[in-house]
Amino acid sequence: MDQIRIEGGNPLNGVVEISGAKNAALPILVSALLTDGCNTYQNVPDLRDIHSTLNLLTHLGADCRMDPIAHETTICAKGLIEPEAPYDLVRKMRASILVLGPLVARLGKARVSLPGGCAIGARPINLHLKGLSEMGAAIELKHGYVEARAEHLKGADFYFDLVTVTGTENLMMAAVLAKGKTVLRNAAREPEVVALADALNAMGAQIEGAGTSVITIHGVEGLHSVDSFRIIPDRIETGTFLVAAALTRGQVEIRGCDPSHLDAVLHKIRLTGAEIETGENWIRVAGAPSIHSVDVKTLPYPGFPTDMQAQFMVLMSVAEGLSLISETIFENRFIHVSELRRMGADITVSGNSALIKGVPKLSGAPVMASDLRASACLVLAGLIAEGSTTVQRVYHLDRGYEAMEKKFQKLGAVIERIQE
Ligand code: EPU
Repeated sequence: MDQIRIEGGNPLNGVVEISGAKNAALPILVSALLTDGCNTYQNVPDLRDIHSTLNLLTHLGADCRMDPIAHETTICAKGLIEPEAPYDLVRKMRASILVLGPLVARLGKARVSLPGGCAIGARPINLHLKGLSEMGAAIELKHGYVEARAEHLKGADFYFDLVTVTGTENLMMAAVLAKGKTVLRNAAREPEVVALADALNAMGAQIEGAGTSVITIHGVEGLHSVDSFRIIPDRIETGTFLVAAALTRGQVEIRGCDPSHLDAVLHKIRLTGAEIETGENWIRVAGAPSIHSVDVKTLPYPGFPTDMQAQFMVLMSVAEGLSLISETIFENRFIHVSELRRMGADITVSGNSALIKGVPKLSGAPVMASDLRASACLVLAGLIAEGSTTVQRVYHLDRGYEAMEKKFQKLGAVIERIQE
């Protein structure tokens, strides 16, 4: 397996271009299942999770083509033959559960392997299932699979007991072809949900309220294909480079991003002392010589994203004073803490909170993590650690960061991928 080796200590300087958002691209590519036309998408990031999604869609009978250099993808789901997402494909990527809603909507049936837990938490899908059942689907759990059937889904008024991003997306995709009106209450307000609603509306769906906590969907008879639909920039990749610049006391211009999706992250990074300027699609960040400690609590959007918690913790591990980071979304998202400690960080975890006492420096070490954002946090730690850091299990990074080491190299970091 590939590793990433970093020699720490260089401030980052220069310009970095942000890729398309993984978590917007995944549901949008899956939404191609809702029509038998050919759909084309732009700004699709070249990531393992995208390839896993295209493999799954191909397995379902869609014809998928991706040009990773041009970042263009075409999906034609004319002859769907297989309403089943098998264990071997789903276990590689939990987000595969997103095919459930569209398959039932289009084919009247679906059989999808239950995703199970992952390193960061149990991650049940009970709300996806409850919503589909209220829309008239008969749901059975058998042999590790969820089987759903509905002659024709019907609109429902559904309240999410807690905010779920892929749950909102799954039900939104199911509702676009349902009979009548669906109202989703306490819906997720993430930019990726808005992006999916935009893609579906561009296909002829009638969705209102995406980006608020009440989404109304008027079912339509059928959808048409979309041409050149553009995936929004990745706000978590943007946030990761923001932290990297502040952490290394560098000066970085982040281009091709959407600062309006990062209010909470920009606010917290400004409080650490970094200087930040923003334009319509760029952010300039200049790190301060000393980093102030700042408390953070993860929350659904527009709160501070859980997907930025691990990266922010590295910043706090070398800040002056004490900071408290509370994780309220996932029950086990501190897996990076023990590795950061091995690099010299002073962090104490109690329940869902981590108390971080800033230290003057971290020291390089061989490290690994079994989650995407935790792995990113270890790369960031390597950028400022004294000596050499090797991050193992790089496939986690490749799931969600396009050419991360190349982007850091361009900014002046001493970082390389060691291929097995
Ligand atoms: N939950 C339930 N029941 C459900 C659904 C969710 O209890 O039916 C719980 C989860 O266990 C969790 C909380 O609700 O405690 C929120 O989970 P959510 O469903 O919102 O997470 P998700 O949709 O599975 C997406 C992103 C994650 C991101 C979370 C939170 C995608 C493909 N994934 O996951 O991204 O952390 O929202 O913002 O959009 C990542 O990119 O590294 C990543 C993990």
